[in-house]
Amino acid sequence: MLKREEKEHKITILLISTNKHKVEEINNITARYGVIVVPANIRKMEIQSDNLVEIALMAARSAYSSLRKPLIVEDAGLFIKELNGFPGPYSSYVYRTIGCKGILKLLEGIKRRDAYFKSVIVYKDESYEMVFEGLTEGEIAYDIRGSGGFGFDPIFIPKGYNKTFAEMSLEEKNRLSHRGKAVKKFIEWFIENRKHAFK
Ligand code: IMP
Repeated sequence: MLKREEKEHKITILLISTNKHKVEEINNITARYGVIVVPANIRKMEIQSDNLVEIALMAARSAYSSLRKPLIVEDAGLFIKELNGFPGPYSSYVYRTIGCKGILKLLEGIKRRDAYFKSVIVYKDESYEMVFEGLTEGEIAYDIRGSGGFGFDPIFIPKGYNKTFAEMSLEEKNRLSHRGKAVKKFIEWFIENRKHAFK
């Protein structure tokens, strides 16, 4: 948690999400650059599409038209190769319905377990609409492991590691994750191109 005095010197950007894990993961990176994201009290518009970029862009445009303040939308999904990319953009619904257990069941007896997580961040303000993407390859574990993180973290093992995201600290996950990569691209662009407009 940031102390009050620290907050007052920071640039604030709205995040169109109430997922506290996302807020924490994003702030863990952006706070180092003097930027904090604050969840906006608004319902995120979710269009039906197979394309994460399109989903995030529509949500950002809709939120911006009511809030008129600099904001980001972050949309992510888990893409399992053996399942032709399922659940992908439907990850949130699939997590709520069948969860990690259901995914393990779908992959029962299957050796090909490669998958990737993808994150899309859309930043929008009065002058810019920018898209940043991050992707992390890995595989689906054979069982549920770890208690950290959220969503499908307990069944995702990033390439080159033998721990699931849920067995890692937030910092370690951020160094490797799809979201960590997208946030880094966003914040580096922001500092270079937009920070001056917030002074
Ligand atoms: P959202 O639509 O971007 O909120 O994410 C869709 C779903 O994907 C979430 O409900 C999670 O189940 C899953 N998900 C997204 N990002 C992650 C992650 O970093 N770890 C584990 N699951 C994730």
